[in-house]
Amino acid sequence: MKYLKSLAVVLLSLVIFGRCKYDKLSTCDTSEVKYGTNIKPILQNNCYTCHAQSNHVADGGGYNLEVFDSLKKFVDDGRLLKAVNWSDPSNVSAMPKGGAKLPECDLSKIEKWITAGAPEN
Ligand code: HEC
Repeated sequence: MKYLKSLAVVLLSLVIFGRCKYDKLSTCDTSEVKYGTNIKPILQNNCYTCHAQSNHVADGGGYNLEVFDSLKKFVDDGRLLKAVNWSDPSNVSAMPKGGAKLPECDLSKIEKWITAGAPEN
């Protein structure tokens, strides 16, 4: 009987712990969006294959998204947001070029960062 009780406790904690973990994974935390910790990794993973300092002329149409001042220009003229949101495809190409749209959570983070003035933090 004692053994069964502890087994039940273990199983119950697994269920509860598992749920918490699942909740964490399924929510999108945009409370503290920073360039260095959030935005740059998104660009690194999805855009630098064409838009890094080393290859942007050959592969990225001359658009450098690795050097911050250059990236900031496309943020300020609105093209970065339109490109990732696919919101104005007749004027601004949908990005990542030839790939799938970024996940909603990445888009929310980019939007939040831009709304905050796109600081280099
Ligand atoms: C496979 C290569 C490739 C990838 C990956 C890619 N781009 Fe591009 N991007 C290009 C090329 C080439 C152009 C030049 C315009 C065109 O061909 O549509 C471009 C143009 C742009 C422009 C200017 C669009 C315009 O019409 O004014 C922006 C902004 C941009 N990319 C942002 C991004 C972002 C942000 C990502 C990642 C989420 C990304 N790109 C991923 C190749 C790529």
